[in-house]
Amino acid sequence: MKISIPKISIVMGSQSDWSTLRHTGKILKELKIVHEKKIVSAHRTPKRLYEYAEQAYDRGIKIIIAGAGGSAHLPGMIAAITHIPVIGVPIESKTLKGLDSLLSIAQMPFGIPVGTVAIGENGAKNAALYAASIISNYDPNIERSLVKWRLAQTKKVKKTPR
Ligand code: RP5
Repeated sequence: MKISIPKISIVMGSQSDWSTLRHTGKILKELKIVHEKKIVSAHRTPKRLYEYAEQAYDRGIKIIIAGAGGSAHLPGMIAAITHIPVIGVPIESKTLKGLDSLLSIAQMPFGIPVGTVAIGENGAKNAALYAASIISNYDPNIERSLVKWRLAQTKKVKKTPR
């Protein structure tokens, strides 16, 4: 049996984030990109966070997509531990509608960047496309899938409204 090593790791602060990040997984599946998904909380499971981030590079992970809500320190903490690119997905929180998540993820101080996408489902989907386009630089199979996916999207747009 052929075992495929995941190239992209989807990580989230809580089970409750999965309803958003499942959209990331769906797009990665459409693009046929092998990925994994994990729950790692920066404040509830700090040891798991450290081990996860420290081992990601050696496990062959090329990009980490990290979703978190509220005081969303997970993507920044992961980026502090590993040099693998981290894309942060701000989860739409109940109280501040995700503005708290967005600012926590986007406003990283100089030295440790986190690429940040839009709040919620759109951001989760774009995180997958963005990760695919980074990997396309050196992986022709993923480049082909991404170009095909984008072309199909373009073809779906009608010229006139109904
Ligand atoms: C963060 O707190 C998670 O990323 C989640 O978005 C938020 C709320 O978590 P739960 O209370 O639903 O577990 O750590």
